[in-house]
Amino acid sequence: MEKEIHKENRFIPHLADYKKTCHGFRWEAVGKELALDSGKLNIAIKAIDQHTGSWRKNKVALYWEGARGRGSNQPEADMRSGRNFTFAELSTESNRIGNMLLNLGVRRGDRVFVFLPRIPELYTSIIAIAKIGAVAGPMFSAFGPEAIRDRLLDSGARVLITHASLRERIHQVWDELPELKHVVVVGDRDRLWKGEVSFEREVEKSSRELEVEDMDLEDPLYILYTSGTTGKPKGVVHVCHDMVSHYITTKLVLDLREEDVYWCTADPGWVTGTVYGIWGPWLNGCSQVTFEGRFDAEHWYSIIEHYGVTVWYTAPTALRMLMKAGPEVVKKYNLKGLRYILSVGEPLNPEVIRWGLEVFGLCIHDTWWQTETGAIMIANYPSMPVRPGSMGKPFPGTEAAIIDNKGNKLPPGTRGILALKPGWPSMMRALWGDEKRYKEYFTIPGWYTTGDTAYMDNEGYFWFIGRADDVIMTAGHRVGPFEVESALVEHRAVAESGVIGKPDPERGEIIKAFIVLRHGFKPSKELEEDIKEFIKHRLSAHAYPREIQFMDGIPKTRSGKIMRRLLKARELGLPEGDLSTLED
Ligand code: WT7
Repeated sequence: MEKEIHKENRFIPHLADYKKTCHGFRWEAVGKELALDSGKLNIAIKAIDQHTGSWRKNKVALYWEGARGRGSNQPEADMRSGRNFTFAELSTESNRIGNMLLNLGVRRGDRVFVFLPRIPELYTSIIAIAKIGAVAGPMFSAFGPEAIRDRLLDSGARVLITHASLRERIHQVWDELPELKHVVVVGDRDRLWKGEVSFEREVEKSSRELEVEDMDLEDPLYILYTSGTTGKPKGVVHVCHDMVSHYITTKLVLDLREEDVYWCTADPGWVTGTVYGIWGPWLNGCSQVTFEGRFDAEHWYSIIEHYGVTVWYTAPTALRMLMKAGPEVVKKYNLKGLRYILSVGEPLNPEVIRWGLEVFGLCIHDTWWQTETGAIMIANYPSMPVRPGSMGKPFPGTEAAIIDNKGNKLPPGTRGILALKPGWPSMMRALWGDEKRYKEYFTIPGWYTTGDTAYMDNEGYFWFIGRADDVIMTAGHRVGPFEVESALVEHRAVAESGVIGKPDPERGEIIKAFIVLRHGFKPSKELEEDIKEFIKHRLSAHAYPREIQFMDGIPKTRSGKIMRRLLKARELGLPEGDLSTLED
């Protein structure tokens, strides 16, 4: 093991003593702290409206920075590089959007999906959906028509809020979506396409006063689709009770406080962006930054400097890309305001931690969790020494363990299944319409199994080993091989395909596809490029195979399942393992 890092904080952490906090921790007490039993129960009241009754009314809740050059997609008034929103403004804006949705016939429990770039309307819409008791479905703006159709169809979404720059992808699949009644378009008042509703026009007509719904803790709040080894993406259902986890993990892990300026670089189309880029920080009354644009080393550093970001939650891939951009770039910016940096999504390499110590003078803290867990489950806390390469220790009030396939706890140092004891507030409550796959998480009695393998050391730190399934983690994004394989075979030249994650120094893994061509097609560079473009546009810009290898046949089991493990072993030159099920 690398040397433990004991770094003095320039602040007194909220979680000052891990052991003590664990000992006295009660979820009910957190509910009390949030005053769940007084007044109406709605996460949007706790996160937004409540602050308008205090001095925080005019505090900046959201510093929005637009992606330069994309202004032409936005209405005249929106052609600016950035704008700040106070809690009061977010409250009024979301009231009007809430009224618009009610006018469109949306009712409590209906699914409203949001397919927007990271513009202010994304944030105000999600708040509005919560206010009227509907279920939000955020979708990442890189998704193509195929990915969008799967999600809208499965969830039976009634309304979709999108942007003029993305609308074409919706129109390609709308007639396959009988339950989708309205498509509301941001950024085009006058030249609406068939069937669309103008966001701006409807919102203008809507009242600023809204009767916020009084929810039950177990009512659904949002659905996020995520991938497994097999089948289409699963709709992970989260409920209003999640706010308890959102609030307390933000406070104790991200260590946010009143005077912080916080930046979460994840898009709300991923769980990190919904939980720690919307709800968690605002439940804590904190100011947050969002940037519409894509990764760019200079631009990212300039955001930290310009807004005076103090706490920053990002991903290993981004950190590795910053590292690669070199020390000259970082020296141009004053990043002294930063006091705390955290990471999530993939293993955080010790090398990146060392780089962080050098350039920021701060130790980057790793956190571990999943779409299904709804909040951070394992983390490195500011008051605890960091063991570089370790994910840290379980959040107070949660029990994590390494178990065998019978549910026995394994001793320290032994590899096994990373499992959690069910019962924390933000655990997923269902997979939308798929009881069978939901149950697969609970096949070992008494435990929720994560799909990860890991071990615990003698001091109780958890160390990530890998996924126990074929799920691919590329640049911190979870991609199911089946989705890519199904999209690939829709290409006219592709007969069969097998898809794996291939280790990559920057992205963690890249997607690699093995392809058998249809009769009459020959391998070529052009065909390879054509297939890549096809997936980018149909499925998603982040889920296309960066590497393609043409083959004469894909190894399969006798029952016809693609043997991805074998493809991977051969790719990496590893032992091929048990081949008894391989078809002849
Ligand atoms: C999977 C969950 C919710 C965060 C974003 C990803 C991997 C997550 C770490 C970490 C190594 C990690 C696991 C996990 N993962 N955090 N700190 N170190 N691996 O959410 O898309 O639901 O994916 O991401 O494999 O199971 P997700």
